Amino acid sequence: MLTVSAGGELRRVVKGWREAGDRIAFVPTMGALHEGHLSLVRRARELAPRVVASIFVNPAQFDEAADLERYPRTPERDAGLLESAGCDLLFLPDEATLYPPGHATWVVPEGPAEGLEGAHRPGHFRGVATVVLALLELVRPDVAVFGEKDAQQLAVVRRLVRDLHLAVEIAAGPTVREADGLAMSSRNARLSPEERRAAEVLHRALRAGAAAALDGTGGGGPGASAEAVRRALREALAAEPLARVDYAEVVDAESFQPVAGRLAGEVVVPIAVWIGDTRLIDNLRLRIDDRPA
Ligand code: PAJ
Repeated sequence: MLTVSAGGELRRVVKGWREAGDRIAFVPTMGALHEGHLSLVRRARELAPRVVASIFVNPAQFDEAADLERYPRTPERDAGLLESAGCDLLFLPDEATLYPPGHATWVVPEGPAEGLEGAHRPGHFRGVATVVLALLELVRPDVAVFGEKDAQQLAVVRRLVRDLHLAVEIAAGPTVREADGLAMSSRNARLSPEERRAAEVLHRALRAGAAAALDGTGGGGPGASAEAVRRALREALAAEPLARVDYAEVVDAESFQPVAGRLAGEVVVPIAVWIGDTRLIDNLRLRIDDRPA
């Protein structure tokens, strides 16, 4: 595996592959890699013979300076993991490469970027959209792979690609979880043993939400309501004293707007929960088949 830091060198290597007729898949990350990230690299490998991954802890998407400072950085370990997962090229830019001196151009996404994470973390998706566009332009992959773990980010990126007519396909990989259901995240390492136990409540709440959503469907009866799902989420989360809820919602999978009334089609159930001073997000994607049996 090759590691490059300069934009020009990255472009040269990728151009050579493209001229040889190879498809290129890209996995952007902020490092501190775990099995969730690596599953995306393996997915990328299935989609194309050449895989590029990037590691860049993007200051612009952090709404809290302390969170940025505390973000784990393990580039050497990450490089080894990427190589064993089948990555050909690691792009490891510094800040001045992605944000050239005098940088003054931002991508400000609306629509799916507005509620939930967008409302709780002002500027977050502006930072994400700006850096993702810059990375896609530097790498120019045929396909870029994102995780369903960050379902709203995935919706924002899909919107960005459509709205700016970017010539890239967006692929999604399923959320990789620990044995007890906790979604893998670099932030999990911050949890004390007691908080780690408490963090199980996120997946428990999502399972309760999914059970409520699917209740009444499939038998030709009326489907469950979004309100019933929200109630099930709230009740499950309230049972954990260490959990403080930012949001627990039911939204349309594409627009990320809250759903009211009876559920239909593809919905996402996203939650954001503080456990101590660590903020965790998770979600479930549900297809509500409301056709009569
Ligand atoms: P990061 O949090 O490092 O995540 C990189 C990719 O890994 C994202 O697409 C994310 O959804 C995915 N991912 C994280 N945890 C996962 C899990 N448990 N299972 C499956 N996939 C998982 O997301 C970002 O970085 C940044 O916002 C970025 C897109 C790189 C822009 O800076």
